[in-house]
Amino acid sequence: MANNGKAIKKIAISTGGGDAPGLNAVIRAVVIAARNRGWEVRGIRDGYNGLLNPGDYPDGGLMHLHRHNVRGITHLGGTILGTTNKGNPLKYPTQARNGKWYEKDRTRELLAAFRKHKIDALVAIGGDGSLAIANALSEKGLRVIGVPKTIDNDLEKTVVTFGFDSAVSFATECVDRLHSTAEAHRRVMVVEVMGRYAGWIAMNAGVSGTADAILMPEIPYDIKKVASAIKALQRQNKHFAIVVVAEGARPVDGKVSVEFRELGRADKLGGAGERVAKQLQALTGKECRTVVLGHLQRGGGPTTFDRLLSLRFGAAAVRALDEGRSGIMVALDPPKVLYVPLREISGRMKTVPLDCDTMLTARAMGISFGD
Ligand code: F6P
Repeated sequence: MANNGKAIKKIAISTGGGDAPGLNAVIRAVVIAARNRGWEVRGIRDGYNGLLNPGDYPDGGLMHLHRHNVRGITHLGGTILGTTNKGNPLKYPTQARNGKWYEKDRTRELLAAFRKHKIDALVAIGGDGSLAIANALSEKGLRVIGVPKTIDNDLEKTVVTFGFDSAVSFATECVDRLHSTAEAHRRVMVVEVMGRYAGWIAMNAGVSGTADAILMPEIPYDIKKVASAIKALQRQNKHFAIVVVAEGARPVDGKVSVEFRELGRADKLGGAGERVAKQLQALTGKECRTVVLGHLQRGGGPTTFDRLLSLRFGAAAVRALDEGRSGIMVALDPPKVLYVPLREISGRMKTVPLDCDTMLTARAMGISFGD
């Protein structure tokens, strides 16, 4: 992990994959901590596109980052650098002469661009896809530190990723707000939340928002059991219900709902909530409505928890570089921020352990998981 290469003069930052609240706070911390060490800092536009397609950008795809560029951004959502979930340099969507699209490995070009700009090291902020790219670049000799970002919280070796708390806080507020309208109309409100193939957002927002049922990827559901739980509520004189559905939830006898597939990116999930609502309406005879929280969970600024975590991750990433490290990801293991090898998280996914305390709490509260 330690890399006693030449002294650092210039580093770059990239933000990749879906945005998450806290990205700008990480950028600010990295820029200030690096400049305080006398290092120059460049921000790569839109993942790695700034280096791969410099002609597309008026500034050549690299933003010169100084203290003044990062003033007043800690609390802002999005990323001042831009991001993409279609710019994987290992599988870059490319059009052949015959018009057909294919995935091309452009890592050699990318590494050459790092050399051309005399960039000594990279801070790669991203989720599983971006960190797998970071690991590949590190294995090819680039000095790289990863910073774990995703609202989905599905990254291994860190207790939590930044962005997750902001997404869950928003989703919980939405679930809270739906109680009164559900009760007024005696309806079942189905709330679809993000999270890909992990149920972290669904579980945390569902338990905190006192949902009646939570359907998540880790527990394939039997819709009849969910319907029975809602009917049982009615017998207890509760005539409305809140059902939180993770976008990656699937029935015991069915598949995950995919909205679309596209070259160079992960499948876009969607439709899980609507599928559940239709079936529940048929099985319970109750009016069901679906609310898809979608990108509202990613928008807006970070919570205090996420701001602080992002600043801590950014500062730790620069510290790690200063200590001569490479090929690692900064990770939260409270109360500490540790370093873990990138290769240990690459290609793995952290799903909800079914015996974790929050699940036990949900079970104790009588929440149905459709199992
Ligand atoms: O990984 C973050 C995430 O928001 C997932 O929860 C969701 O499935 C996906 O990104 C959506 O991607 P897109 O930005 O393409 O809509």
